[in-house]
Amino acid sequence: CRNLQRQRSFQTKVTQSKIPNFGFAFDIDGVLVRSSTPIPGAHKALSYLQDERIPFVLLTNGGGKSEEERVRDLQEKLDVPLDTGMFLQSHTPFANLKQYHDKTVLVVGGDHDKCQRVAQGYGYKNVVTPGDIYTAYPDIWPFGKPFEEVYKAFAKPPPKPINLESPPDSLKIDAIFVYNDPRDWGLDASLILDLMLSEQGILGTLSKKNGDSSLPNNGYLQDGQPALYYSNPDLWWASSYHLNRLGQGGFQFAFDGLWNAVTGGAKLEKTTIGKPTQATYEYAENLLRQHRKKIWGPVGLNDPLKRVYMVGDNPESDIQGANNYQSPHGSDWTSVLVKTGVWKEGQEPSHKPDIIHENVSEAVQWAVEDAR
Ligand code: G3P
Ligand code: MG
Repeated sequence: CRNLQRQRSFQTKVTQSKIPNFGFAFDIDGVLVRSSTPIPGAHKALSYLQDERIPFVLLTNGGGKSEEERVRDLQEKLDVPLDTGMFLQSHTPFANLKQYHDKTVLVVGGDHDKCQRVAQGYGYKNVVTPGDIYTAYPDIWPFGKPFEEVYKAFAKPPPKPINLESPPDSLKIDAIFVYNDPRDWGLDASLILDLMLSEQGILGTLSKKNGDSSLPNNGYLQDGQPALYYSNPDLWWASSYHLNRLGQGGFQFAFDGLWNAVTGGAKLEKTTIGKPTQATYEYAENLLRQHRKKIWGPVGLNDPLKRVYMVGDNPESDIQGANNYQSPHGSDWTSVLVKTGVWKEGQEPSHKPDIIHENVSEAVQWAVEDAR
C-alpha cells in the first residue's frame, strides 16, 4: 500500500495549505540532465514540487556561463520556470572575493571569453584570459596554433605588456581563477605554472625559489605567488557520453603532477571551492531559505526548515557534501544518490548515501513521503 500511497502522492496534487518544513537541493549533471539532454522524469519532479510550493535550489559544480544564461538554458531544457535566486554554480561564490575586484586576475577555462565576461559581471575590473596572453605572446606556448583562430576572435591586449627591463611596469597577475574546465590544458597549465613559479606574479620572471615558498625570498622582488583558486574538485562528471568524463579535478590532478615534477614536491598553495565544501552548502542553504520566503512570504520561528534532501549522482561531491554539512540554521540534510550519473550500481559509493534511488523522479516521490 506504501507504493500505492507513493503513487497517489506524486500524481495527485496535495496542495500544501501549510508551509512545508522541508526542501530540496538538486545537483544538475547526471541528475536533471546529461549534457543538454533532460533526464526522464526531471521535468515532472520539478513541476510537481513547484505546484506544491515545496522549495528547491539547483546546486552544480558546473559553470562557464553567467548564472542568468545557465538558468535560461535549464528553463528551456527542463521546461520548468527557474530564476537565479534558486541557482548556485561552482564559481558563483567568486563574486564575493571583492579583495581581487580591483586587482589583475587570470581567469582560466570555459568557452572563448565567456568566463571573462562572467568575472567582469561579478565586479572584477582587470580580467585577463590565457587566450589574451597567447595572442599577444604566441611563443609562450609553442603548441597553441590549433587554437589560434579561436583566441583571435575574442583576445584583447593584456592591461600591461611583459616588460622585463622594468618588472614593476610588467604584466603582474595577483590571482588565478579556474572558473570552468580548461579547453587547452597545455596553454592553461603552462601559464599557471609560469605564474606560480614567478616573482610576485610577474609573467616572464622566475623566482629563485622554484616555487618553494618555504625558502627565504630572493631579495630582488618579494616573491608572492598569485593566489590560485579552483571552482570545483570533480575528477569525473556525467556528460552525454556513457562513460564518465574528466572534470576540473582532472585538470587539477594533472597540474599537481607538473608542479611536483618541476618543484620536487613543494607545497602548492591553492583553494578549491564548490561541492563538497561546507561553504558551498551554506551558500546553497541560504539560497533555499530566501527562495522559501519568496514562495511563502515571511516565515517565522514556528515554520523552521527542518530537512533538506540533497539529490546527487556523485558520491565525492553531492553525497560527501550533504553527509558532512553542518547547517548553522539547524537543518538536517539527507543525501540521496541516484543511478543516472557518475555513480554506477554495483560500485561501493566512496561516501555512503542515506538512500539510493533509480532517478530524480523516484527520489522526489520517496522524499515527499519521507518528509510527511
Ligand atoms: O562541470 C560539471 C561537473 O563538474 C559536474 O557538475 O552538476 O554534476 O555538479 P554537477
Ligand atoms: Mg552531478
